[in-house]
Amino acid sequence: MKLRTDRVIERLNALAAISDTTNCIDRAYGTEAHTASGDLLMTWMSKAGLHTKRDTIGNIKGVLSSKVVDAKHFIIGSHYDTVFDAGKYDGPLGILLGLEMAQYIINNDLPIPFHLNVIAFADEEGSRFNTAYLGSSAIAGFFEKSWLQRKDDEGISLQTVIQKNSGISSNIDSESISKENCLGYFEAHIEQGPVLCNENLPVCLVNGIASQTRVDVHWTGISGHAGTYPMNQRNDALCAAAEFALAVESIGKEHQTKLVATIGKLNVIPNTPNVIPGKVEHTLDIRSLDDNFLMEVGQILEQRAKEISKERKVNLVWNIMQTNTSVQCDKNLKRCLKTGIEKAGIRQVLEISSGAGHDAVMISKIAPVSMLFVRCKDGISHNPLEYVTPEDIEKSLEVCDNFIKELIHQNS
Ligand code: GLV
Ligand code: MN
Ligand code: MN
Repeated sequence: MKLRTDRVIERLNALAAISDTTNCIDRAYGTEAHTASGDLLMTWMSKAGLHTKRDTIGNIKGVLSSKVVDAKHFIIGSHYDTVFDAGKYDGPLGILLGLEMAQYIINNDLPIPFHLNVIAFADEEGSRFNTAYLGSSAIAGFFEKSWLQRKDDEGISLQTVIQKNSGISSNIDSESISKENCLGYFEAHIEQGPVLCNENLPVCLVNGIASQTRVDVHWTGISGHAGTYPMNQRNDALCAAAEFALAVESIGKEHQTKLVATIGKLNVIPNTPNVIPGKVEHTLDIRSLDDNFLMEVGQILEQRAKEISKERKVNLVWNIMQTNTSVQCDKNLKRCLKTGIEKAGIRQVLEISSGAGHDAVMISKIAPVSMLFVRCKDGISHNPLEYVTPEDIEKSLEVCDNFIKELIHQNS
């Protein structure tokens, strides 16, 4: 176990060293660093003995085939893209634990009743094109062609990026797995919250994942001279966005037991000290475990934005980029995972829901899904301070091995 734990840590460090920006981890979808980290994952998968392939969108798939005729596919995965200035565990930990599970099967010569697919998903964060799950949507066969026209901050389209990296930009779904052929999905991921720290537990079960809506909001006013234009005659796009941001915070606080609402990215145009902002573009990210409530909040916020637009004579464009309903984890897979946790001698099998999005959301369209959360220090994530102790990685490995054994046993 110690050797395997060390290997996972070494690999986490090797991936963390691949970045588009010096002195921080930054691997947005389709960049040079992103591609290089995919290459490295592919090498490790091949070395483990998996049949490896990179699909059009950039997912790295390592397959261990079953000898059973008509065997279905079981997927284990997580993502290798990161947010800007990321930690090293969000995404890679789940891929590397998945790879260790495959390695465990190979080393112990276990006959598997399903084809095991270890998948490193190309994009989960959606930080470049403001759309989460580009990678897993291709595997699930739910990639929408219209996404190809989305542009990053430099005006480069998703289609151009795919074309450049894969040589083609069609057949995005060519590696997808059909619902009929998919037995299930498992993803290990850091918790990204403080519950496991508070409960002093290394891991827990996930019972479900919150619904999420992402919106692109554009405000267009009139830019002008900051020194000469009277205050009462301005159509300042930033002031409109600021008023809206406070409305977002206020509704989030009002319903804090069942809603989180964030404006995480904002561009001010022209972004110059002595020019009244003429245009502001920002994101809006709202999440809840209650699908209907989330829809209601989305409508309330859109209405509030329209009022601000009218009062301030600043034009508004409201573009819903993505909306996902909440996902429940599968009872039977949860049972296997519970057995895995118990057999690892963990004193309590805790079950919590996830406010963070995960590739499991997309894969749930084709398969029953399950997730294991691993404790991260102080619950900190999307931050370079993200940290998982070697002891917790070792415990997670033990749980993952137990889980896969139980799954093999159940399906044989
Ligand atoms: C991914 O980390 C998300 O929840 O946005
Ligand atoms: Mn993640
Ligand atoms: Mn993340």
